[in-house]
Amino acid sequence: MQIVKTVAAMQSLAKKWQRAGVKIGFVPTMGYLHEGHLSLVREARKRVGKNGKVVVSIYVNPTQFAPTEDLSKYPRDLKRDLESCRAAGTDAVFTPTDKEMYSRWGESLSSPDSKKYLGSTESRPTTNYSTYVVEEKLSRAMEGASRPTHFRGVTTIVAKLFNIVLPDVAIFGQKDFQQAAIIKRMVADLNFPVKIIVAPTVRERDGLAMSSRNKYLVGDLRRQATVLWCAIQIARATVKKSKTFPAAKLKDAIKKLVECEPDAKLDYVEFFEPEILLPVSIVKSGTQMALAVFIGKTRLIDNVRI
Ligand code: PAF
Repeated sequence: MQIVKTVAAMQSLAKKWQRAGVKIGFVPTMGYLHEGHLSLVREARKRVGKNGKVVVSIYVNPTQFAPTEDLSKYPRDLKRDLESCRAAGTDAVFTPTDKEMYSRWGESLSSPDSKKYLGSTESRPTTNYSTYVVEEKLSRAMEGASRPTHFRGVTTIVAKLFNIVLPDVAIFGQKDFQQAAIIKRMVADLNFPVKIIVAPTVRERDGLAMSSRNKYLVGDLRRQATVLWCAIQIARATVKKSKTFPAAKLKDAIKKLVECEPDAKLDYVEFFEPEILLPVSIVKSGTQMALAVFIGKTRLIDNVRI
């Protein structure tokens, strides 16, 4: 397995593979890998076959974190991640630095001031990075409403990674449903020659969706986190019983259920059309449900098709 740290080295490796007619499968991650990520790596291998190459990127992207969010605390364990990637049959891991990704010709991004500007919509005249990719429709609601600069950071870094890794196919997790929809839209709108695959959410035995942030759930918070899966089960059971159900009433019931847990606070729950992400007033089979819940200070998200 090759470990690649610079944009130039990754692009030249990808171009070499392209010239040889080798298919490239790509799994972008922010590291602290779990079984959910490894299922994406296996999916990438399935898509490119044994003669293809699988690339995993490990990069905690500062531009998708707001200044108030957990960028500096985001869990990292590169040594363990590299072992997991190797065991899962990855051909190359791309692990760039902030400087490599956002200011090759400029100053280091390690100053607190630079971090502030990278994570916000404010432009900073002295930084040498000033180009962003913005999706303007699907990114407004849900995660986009709660985290206004988040998707700008995601689309920007994913576009950059596509230009660096040159994948034929890229795999994203269904757990970030809105992210996957926005990436698909970006790829279609900007004609990136890459096929986007969305792979199913991997869950713990009690239903909690796997996430690097689950590491923060210590003691009773881990038990309380199962309330997201409970809320999903209740929504599904309600619709199964009555075929259709008013979204507003279901949202109220879910808010009450979630907030029975002492450290849980509902950020949002939404019912919407899965293709266009437009909210519906009546929930039925085929409606997509998404929710975000704070468990203590940790914000968890989940979604399912009802
Ligand atoms: O889903 C993630 O881990 C990140 O948003 C991604 C796609 C790797 C971009 O930083």
